[in-house]
Amino acid sequence: MSYQNSKITETAELLKSRFAELSVKADILKAVELRALYAEIPTLPAEERADFGKEINALRDELQSMVAAHADVAEALPPIDVTAPFDLNTPPDKRPRLLPTETGSQHPLMTELATVLDIFYRMGFNAVESRELDDDYHMFSALNFPEDHPARDDYDTFMTLQLDSSGKQLIAPAHTSTMQNRVLKQYKANLDKGEPIAVVIPGRVFRNEDLDARHEHTFYQLEGVYVGKGVHAGNLIATLKTFLQEYYGKELEIKTQPFYFPFTEPSFEFALSCPFCDKKGCNVCSYTGWIELLGCGMIHPNVLREAGINPEEYTGFAWGGGIERLVMMKYDIEDIRYFEAARLDFLRQFA
Ligand code: DAH
Repeated sequence: MSYQNSKITETAELLKSRFAELSVKADILKAVELRALYAEIPTLPAEERADFGKEINALRDELQSMVAAHADVAEALPPIDVTAPFDLNTPPDKRPRLLPTETGSQHPLMTELATVLDIFYRMGFNAVESRELDDDYHMFSALNFPEDHPARDDYDTFMTLQLDSSGKQLIAPAHTSTMQNRVLKQYKANLDKGEPIAVVIPGRVFRNEDLDARHEHTFYQLEGVYVGKGVHAGNLIATLKTFLQEYYGKELEIKTQPFYFPFTEPSFEFALSCPFCDKKGCNVCSYTGWIELLGCGMIHPNVLREAGINPEEYTGFAWGGGIERLVMMKYDIEDIRYFEAARLDFLRQFA
């Protein structure tokens, strides 16, 4: 296309040569030179303005159709899948070799979790999955953590910047106990029918803590809740002992020691004789002969009350512990970080 006006001809040539180099072709329509031409219109003698204006419009239309033509070509290119580990246009013989899907396998934690749940199903427990985002109420208040109590700091919680409806930050749950209030309410009707509440809650939990062979920022826990008439600490210990014997397939020595959790009274820590050294002391058990496995206790009356259960009438126990630790003890795995490290040499041992 040719233009009468030499200035417009000059600008057209300039912009067309720039067009070839632009990565975002539509930017040519925003060129300052084009805008300068429009800005010049009011400065021209009245009789020249109409022709000059028409020619600039023609130039803009020409540039616009160049942009559109280029977009058509771009659309015709084969799509690129940004999630593919290679450009989809790579010929098949040049592509990197992918792992064959038919040799994939379930993650060992999921296999073990299925075994754990199966044992609890046989013991009469239902399973309810935990959640990965929760609120201050379920993480703390419903569990009898007083407002501003220092025990809240023990949980190294990750929080969102976004606030919930009560103006508090949301929380990536640091324990599966966040589900206690929910399951107590959900299964409360069992008690009226003379049946216990018996629920296990597997879930992923998150803690902002220093990582080492026994600590990960993301791990799995299994929570258990049991409520009924006349339930006592002996039932708690018998339940956990039965489970551990089933899971490990052998008699293990267990030890309970007093501990503090706001949501249980009394609270205990449950330890297992170290399977690595048979209680002689080694670096896995920090030379104590025992490995702390989980926290447990008799559910605090305030927690029952908060869920609408009368603590004068019903009592219950609860526990919560890391699934990785359970599995580590079964297979002599010395570092918790192997689970989420996507190490094929580690994972293949369980395939
Ligand atoms: N939620 C506790 C933790 O992660 C563990 C725990 C202790 C769970 C006592 C319970 C319990 O249900 O009764 O440290």
